[in-house]
This record gives sequence, C-alpha cells and structure tokens, in this order.
Amino acid sequence: MILRSTHQTAAKVSAQWLAVPVYAGQTAAPEALRDTPSADVIVRMLERKDIDGSTGETTCVFGATGLAAESLILYGVGSRDKREPGSAFSAGVALGKKLAGKPKKSVALALPSPIDSSEFISALIEGVVVGTRGTDLRKSEPTRHAFEELLLIVSEKENKIGAEVEAIARRAQIIGDAVNLARDLANTPPAEKTPTALAGRFRELGETSGLIVEVWDEKRLREERFGGLLAVAAGSDEPPAFVRIELADADASKPTLALVGKGVTFDSGGLSLKPSASMEDMKSDMTGAAVVFATLRALAQLKIPLNRRIVGYAPLTENMTGGRAMKLGDVLTMRNGKTVEVMNTDAEGRLILADALSFAAESKPSRILDLATLTGACLVALGPKVAGLFSNDDSFANDVFTAATRVGERAWRLPMDADYFDQLKSGVADFKNVGGKYAGAITAAKFLEQFVAEIPWVHLDIAGPSWADSDSPARDAGGTGCFVRTLIELIAPADSPSRF
Ligand code: BES
Ligand code: MN
Ligand code: ZN
Repeated sequence: MILRSTHQTAAKVSAQWLAVPVYAGQTAAPEALRDTPSADVIVRMLERKDIDGSTGETTCVFGATGLAAESLILYGVGSRDKREPGSAFSAGVALGKKLAGKPKKSVALALPSPIDSSEFISALIEGVVVGTRGTDLRKSEPTRHAFEELLLIVSEKENKIGAEVEAIARRAQIIGDAVNLARDLANTPPAEKTPTALAGRFRELGETSGLIVEVWDEKRLREERFGGLLAVAAGSDEPPAFVRIELADADASKPTLALVGKGVTFDSGGLSLKPSASMEDMKSDMTGAAVVFATLRALAQLKIPLNRRIVGYAPLTENMTGGRAMKLGDVLTMRNGKTVEVMNTDAEGRLILADALSFAAESKPSRILDLATLTGACLVALGPKVAGLFSNDDSFANDVFTAATRVGERAWRLPMDADYFDQLKSGVADFKNVGGKYAGAITAAKFLEQFVAEIPWVHLDIAGPSWADSDSPARDAGGTGCFVRTLIELIAPADSPSRF
C-alpha cells in the first residue's frame, strides 16, 4: 500500500473514497467537509441521529455533492475528549473492513483533528491496515482487498506537517502488518503449521527482514535436556522445534529483554483429551510464538535504534495422543533440573514454557516477558478480551500495563502470593503440573515462576484475547494478533526511542 499525505482540503482530494471522521456527540458538520454542499446533509444526519459518531460506526453517504472524490464514507471515532487509542484502533478496523470488501484503488483518509497525539493517529492507521486483512486465507475468492493507496489528509490548521504524519503512518503500517502476520499464523490450518513448518516459516520470513533465526531440532533438544518440550511432543508424529530469534544488527552490549511465546501448533489435550468443542480453536495455541515473532519482525522493519537487545524464543510442538504420549503419573526432568509430575497432559503449555524460560534465563537477560494461551481459567476470571498479567516485579509489571493501556489493549494483574503454590505439591516430584479447581490461571503462573530464576518477569495469559469467537464491525472472528501493539509500544514507542 502506497502511503502519501496532503494538505489539500478534503473536498478537492480526488480518490475513489473519501473517509471523514465523526466524533461522538458532534453536532456541527465534520471539519473536513465544512463549506461543501455535503455539510448540510451530514448535519441533518447528525440531528436525526442517523449517525452518532460512536466507535466502529461507518456510513456511506450516497450522492454527496461538491467532492472531487467518487464516494464518501463517514467513520465514527468515539469521544473527542477522551481520544482513546483503543477506540481509534477499532474505528480504523471498522473502516478498513468496510472499504476493503470490494476492490478499491485509492482511499483518502481525513484524519481526526487535532493531531496532538501520535498514538491516536497511529492506532487509527494500524486499525485500517488490520481491517483490510480478512480471514479468507484459503477461500477460492478473496473477500477483502487491500488498498493500493492510502492518502492521508492533514488539515492546514495542524501543527504536524505531512512528513511527520507520513512517518507515523509508515510505522503504523509496519505494526498493522505485524498484527496481521500474527493473525494469519493463528488462522492457518494446523496441518500447514506443524512445528517443522512453522519454524521454517519463521526462518524464511526472518531472513528476508533482518532477523537471525536459529532452529533446534529434536536431536538437539535431547542434547540440551528440554525434558518438558520433548515430553509434550512425544505424543505426536511431528517432531518439536525450538526457535531463537534475534535482530541481525543487535547490540550485544545492551541489557536484554527476552520474549518467550507458547507455540503449541495444535492442542488436543493429549491423553487428558479435550472435548471436541473445546478443541475447535486449538490451532491458535501458538499465538504467543506468533506474537513474539511478528514483534521482532516489526522491530527489524522499523529500523530504529533500541536501548535494549531483544531476543525471542519459541518452543513449538503439537499436543497429541500418540502411542508414545506422556502419561498421567510420568515424572519429567526439566531443563533446569526440577522434576515435574504430570497430572494432566492438557496442562502442556507450562511444560514447554518451563524449558524455554529456563533457557532464556541462563543468558541472564534483565527482563523476561512471556505470552501464552495458557489457561481456560484466565477466561473464567477476566473474560475473553482481557489478558491476565502476572509478575514477580512491580516496576516491569507497570511498564507492561502502561504500554498496553497506551495502545488500548487490555490486561489486568492477578496476585501470585506464595500459598498459591501449595496446590502444586507432589508426593513424588518437586511439584506437579496442575493445581486444584480454583485459581487455575494463578497456579499456572506459579508453575512458570519456578523457571525464571528470579529475573524480573512478566507472564501474559492471552487465552482470552488471542481469539475472537464472533465477527463484529470492529473485529474479525479468529486470531487477533493481540499484544503485538503493546510489545512495540513497550520496546519502541512512537514518540521516544524507548520507554524503559
Ligand atoms: N491451550 C489451553 C488453554 C486455552 C483454553 C486457551 C481455552 C484458549 C482457550 C491450555 O493448554 C489448557 O488446556 N489448559 C488447561 C489447563 C488445565 C488442564 C489445568 C485448561 O485451561 O483447561
Ligand atoms: Mn492444553
Ligand atoms: Zn494449550
């Protein structure tokens, strides 16, 4: 998609579509259309409450006159006072979805003024990019058509000049593409993303975008004593893989942030088999790994100096029921030497993350952040749109929470007091892999904590927000690519080299 900006008045911009923002509660004609014959029509629509400017509202205005553009669409951006990036992102997705339904070459986007925060504009454009990408990966006919050109209309009254806005937009496009990559990978059928295939895809995509991708095979994992990952993979005919991802031009002298993502390419539950309905979306159990990879790729494409070295790790495996599958009562020796009694093979994510976290911790990063579709219990606790945030370090927890809030993604911190670990006591091994029926998201986090060697660590349980069950104007059903935007905001925010 070609990105350009213009200071022309909206009415004079020639494009197939002109998209104009409407704030919630607005009564006057949108600024971009003032002094055009269309202004009266829109004021009447506002008066009659045909439109209300709410986030995600999109309204085609047929027969608008006095415009150089062929067609006019109004998009709601929510409250003018609050100007929440989450709302801007949703507004962008809704607009992108609506316009990409049919092939369109050029879209002129009038930006909501004032352009005082780059976050708001960035989120809007990220949303447009995400909205133009559908879930039609294997449909015979595409149902979404990316724009050839997005022309950003910047009012003359703005302090920000076109070049600045274009820079924000280029960054937003990279971030939107990264979200789409994570979505595409989650939406990919499981037979096409076996651990070997997914590792291959990471390598391919990485090599063309400035990343160094190292893949360990099963033999190497045995040598490296990845007892958890190997035990989960034992039930599958597909061998596991472990991927390490780093920016090619990384500065090894800088403190490291390690990103670890759960990569279960299909979770049947193993011998503790899931019921069929619970298995339907389990191709997305590799979202953590996809988000880590997509974030690193975006960082490479952004080509900006970072004050941290970022290293990604992704343990990849299927969780299946083959003849060599791990059994209840088996005791595994993990990478860090701890022993784990398996009491439920469906609690597999923590087993593969244990080895990945131990390995990450060995190179003494200053911080470790993991993302995992870890527990149904987290959905019970927080619902489908909010991630559970767990940490052994208040300051890191606050950094992640703040970054999420700034881009409008939602996470909520849950406690990790020592007594939650009591549920994991085992008679034969150091601990077991499941607790009792209460606080399942927390006992999972307590399990992971045993493997981070007291390094400041945040765990995001993204079981809920990784997947949307239903379609809505501002979201597609399926993989969401959640927290890519948060990670970029944490590592490389729009308005400063880095926030932490
Ligand atoms: N991948 C699932 C968690 C999950 C559930 C993600 C629903 C997305 C939606 C995980 O591996 C799992 O099966 N967890 C078990 C843990 C239990 C056995 C302690 C769960 O949540 O039931
Ligand atoms: Mn499971
Ligand atoms: Zn799982």
